Amino acid sequence: MPYTFEPSPARGRVLVFDSGVGGLTVAGEIRALGPRLSVHYAADTGFFPYGDKSDEALRERLPKVARALVEAVQPDVFVIACNTASTLALAEVRAALDIPVVGTVPAIKPAAQLTETGTIGLLATPGTIRRAYTAQLIEEFAAGKRVLLHGSLDLVKLAEANARGEDIPPEAFASAQAPLFAMEGGDAIDTVVLACTHFPLVRGQLIATAPRPVSYIDSGAAIARQTIRVLPKDTHAGGQGGTASLTSPPDETDGISRVLRRYGFPEIQFVACEPNATTSAEAAP
Ligand code: DGL
Repeated sequence: MPYTFEPSPARGRVLVFDSGVGGLTVAGEIRALGPRLSVHYAADTGFFPYGDKSDEALRERLPKVARALVEAVQPDVFVIACNTASTLALAEVRAALDIPVVGTVPAIKPAAQLTETGTIGLLATPGTIRRAYTAQLIEEFAAGKRVLLHGSLDLVKLAEANARGEDIPPEAFASAQAPLFAMEGGDAIDTVVLACTHFPLVRGQLIATAPRPVSYIDSGAAIARQTIRVLPKDTHAGGQGGTASLTSPPDETDGISRVLRRYGFPEIQFVACEPNATTSAEAAP
């Protein structure tokens, strides 16, 4: 079969946003598809991780941080490269901004098309697992399939540590995903949705430590296509891109700054976002 990859000629400034380094997987897809785009990155390091925060705290935080970042970077499109944020507050972020906002939707639809056994696993943060939005997606796109869900904040932290160059034993990845396969019916899973943008960063480790061969899919390429689709015609000229904005003070960002530079975001800037009034810790699991 011929290789049909076609980079888009689109120009403009794109801001890719996540709580930490997970959105780099999406930024990579956008850069590959739109080499003329000026791609910038932003991580809400001051509020990381999102996966264990209450819905109330995230709803308060997300429109505020999105506004502060857009003001600082002036992008043409804002991409929420985070399932935990998108499945909860996409509408609130859209209402807070006057540019197109692209959200991240767990790849349930392609998983439902791909599965041969009819059993799909979904790995995400605890927040994404309990969202009504996730349940709706399953109802709409995976009717008649069995979808088993497992929320793991450990896997987010492992992916983040792995990106920082820490040496993580394979057993850590094996134990983080084991509960999914140990669920009733888990032995029939043949397709796993990586419904947290951090997880494709450790796809290789997940494949290597799975109890048997399964497909691990994500929505990065679909988000890249959607980003180019919604780009306004009359965009900023852009430039090269490569700036990363962080919300925690510079003296706390050494580790992540090194990762961002390695991924092609050499300029790091601090963007202040007023602190939350709402308690950030999740009340119940
Ligand atoms: N990367 C994020 C996601 O896609 C969340 C990680 C976190 O902050 O818990 O859900």
